[in-house]
Amino acid sequence: DEKEIPKNLQREDDEETMNLISSLPSCVDFEGTKLCQYQGCWYDSKTMQGILNFQREFEPQDTDIVIASFPKSGTTWLKALTVALVERSKHSSDDHPLLLDNPHGLVPFLELIFETSKPDMTNISSSPRLFSTHVAFQTLREALKNSPCKIVYVWRNVKDVLVSFWYFKCAILKIEEEGSMLESLFESFCEGVTNHGPFWEHVLSYWKGSLEDPKNVLFLKYEELKTDPNVQLKKLAEFLGCLFTVEEEESGSVEEILDLCSLSNLKNLEINKTGKTARRSDHKTFFRKGEVGDSKNYLTPEMEKRIDMIIQEKFQGSDIEF
Ligand code: A3P
Repeated sequence: DEKEIPKNLQREDDEETMNLISSLPSCVDFEGTKLCQYQGCWYDSKTMQGILNFQREFEPQDTDIVIASFPKSGTTWLKALTVALVERSKHSSDDHPLLLDNPHGLVPFLELIFETSKPDMTNISSSPRLFSTHVAFQTLREALKNSPCKIVYVWRNVKDVLVSFWYFKCAILKIEEEGSMLESLFESFCEGVTNHGPFWEHVLSYWKGSLEDPKNVLFLKYEELKTDPNVQLKKLAEFLGCLFTVEEEESGSVEEILDLCSLSNLKNLEINKTGKTARRSDHKTFFRKGEVGDSKNYLTPEMEKRIDMIIQEKFQGSDIEF
């Protein structure tokens, strides 16, 4: 759905990058898009271009925070919560960054900003700088070199991720939700052949990363953010080194952030009702129901069973609970 990069916007080293990309193992996803395999996951060639540039050229700062996720796992929410957390006390209620831009505008995807040009980072003044990514842990780690940046990963039940992705795809294509697309998407998911997939390897990469380096990698679960937002937000604050003070807790600062970042609040902000991302996606497509278990309404019992069997196989030996 994105146009080819015009010749005059191509980078000088594009040819070298394209040669490398064409040497990678490749396959075709449910839409007929060519994907290539890199460091254990599949990416389309434009994403791949961004990843290679970002790994080569990103200059991390030790205070950087990177929000990581598999697409449709709660990225937008985690971005909003992190912005609200680190920016608290810097803004009044009418000049808050979340009122002026969508969370994706405030926290850019590294592989996207490095896609066509070397981004100018000098205008990102706020410290900490906030970035995001959908790449797997090993790929992100390589780009961060040995910098002790904080990485926060959010993961979500794969069935809800799948249905959320189906809705998102249809919204972007401006078509009715069709069962046939869900079926082919389901096949691709099960086979692990989707942009950024396999889902299982993605989640496991960050799970392992968080076990190896708990000080710098936090592993959060969307469902727990939903059931226990207060506790999870405080955990995030502690991890990022910006604990709530007793006074803040008493004055309701935690609840204020949760209210500001709630699905209903964000969805109804003018900027999210009407705005578009840099890649021309409507902001509103990032906010739907946010319900746990919504996939029950769309997946057949056979589909659920097949996913359950894959989960059983892939996650045995880990303490990850669905
Ligand atoms: P549903 O499609 O199940 O409703 P991502 O941000 O990674 O693209 O994930 C999108 C999913 O997160 C969508 O799920 C969307 O509704 C949900 N979401 C977006 N903002 C949210 C928020 N503030 N709170 C809870 N869920 C949110």
